[in-house]
Amino acid sequence: HGTSKINNKGHLEIGGVDTIEIVKEFGTPVYVYDVALIRDRAKGFKDTFEKLGIKAQVAYASKAFSTVAMVQLADQEGLSLDVVSGGELYTALAADFPVDRIHFHGNNKSREELEMALEHRLGCIVVDNFHELQLLAELCEIKNVRAKILLRVTPGIEAHTHDYILTGQEDSKFGFGLQNGQATTALKTAIDSDYLDLLGVHCHIGSQIFETTGFILAARKIFTQLKEWKESLGFESKVLNLGGGFGIRYTQEDDPIPASQYVEEIIAEVKDQAEKLSMEVPEIWIEPGRSLVGDAGTTLYQIGSKKDVPNVRKYLAVDGGMSDNIRPALYEAKYEAILANRALETPEETVSIAGKCCESGDMLIWDLPLPKAESNDVLAVFCTGAYGYAMSNNYNRIPKPPVVFVEKGKAQLVVRRETFDDIVRLDLPLKTKVNN
Ligand code: LLP
Repeated sequence: HGTSKINNKGHLEIGGVDTIEIVKEFGTPVYVYDVALIRDRAKGFKDTFEKLGIKAQVAYASKAFSTVAMVQLADQEGLSLDVVSGGELYTALAADFPVDRIHFHGNNKSREELEMALEHRLGCIVVDNFHELQLLAELCEIKNVRAKILLRVTPGIEAHTHDYILTGQEDSKFGFGLQNGQATTALKTAIDSDYLDLLGVHCHIGSQIFETTGFILAARKIFTQLKEWKESLGFESKVLNLGGGFGIRYTQEDDPIPASQYVEEIIAEVKDQAEKLSMEVPEIWIEPGRSLVGDAGTTLYQIGSKKDVPNVRKYLAVDGGMSDNIRPALYEAKYEAILANRALETPEETVSIAGKCCESGDMLIWDLPLPKAESNDVLAVFCTGAYGYAMSNNYNRIPKPPVVFVEKGKAQLVVRRETFDDIVRLDLPLKTKVNN
């Protein structure tokens, strides 16, 4: 998919660059991103809104993969940016991302983070709870500024996805409940405040969602509420943010619909609701993360040790694992992989790919068909672009891999590999002396 193909050496090539050359230059493990594919995905969302004549913002959920270069790429493609912490905001500012297109999320933004948001006059703060609503209004008053906000509501919709990443149901740490009246209380507070400029509402029903039903049900519930707010409080929502969560194909078993179809079906419902309830169609914002960068990322590993448990299983270990991709261990996430240096060879055996961390759960892929692999072969694991680097860690004090962008035959290092010096960089020596 994307610009990936097999070249005449039988090597996997991405963005016109031979992955084996990438390995020679940057070592393994290494995250490789197909930049053209990210641009394509961004255009897919934006063009669909344009075609439908809907005023929209497509905000890249940078939690999926946030680095300075990635944020700059999002800017080049005219995306807005969703950040969820001081660190993601700092990255956006370091990348010179236009502040009026930054949306600030999070269920426990600190005073310092909110001050940072106000100081930089972000386009929107998505207020999650009563504590934040009050704190933000206070800070605005102290600084004598007005903040543009959305209220995050939980519409009580369960999207069909993995339990760990469900965020839309009423019993959730996120947002104001629609059913229990908390959203209405919050709305009144926001309307009454001289310091809060309430643009509208936000909801996010989950992640890696394959159908539009959840989005459509959420939109319906929210419209019913908006109608009531219009009649009882005279409030009209300028913006409706429907969050992210559009699923991607990790393996053959996954069957997502194209991005354009998500947008088309959701917008059809929005228009329908607006017409039925005689309301204006609000500006629609969405926040895709995974679907913009997920399948654009490939991780290259070198194969090392092998272990054959007779009549049971063959293990092949790679030089990374749950430190650079925690998703299999955390969510039982599935991935597909090939040998990048022998991409034309047909699979001869079934192997399970182990990471190098000291933990039995550190398995990247179970039962993968592969040609008979040798040490030094290069394994390419696909679709690691979202929540791979973003959730990487230094478990076992393993340095994080570098990130390389490829496009039109050129490779560009955008995050350098961590060194052992980086690993001890923040450590301070023990001060107490012991006499013995
Ligand atoms: N907007 C909000 C408010 C979110 O909470 C999220 C994801 C997104 C947008 C982007 O969702 P996406 O389009 O990427 O599905 N670590 C998990 C995913 C956690 C998603 C959290 N929120 C994973 O690796 O699958």
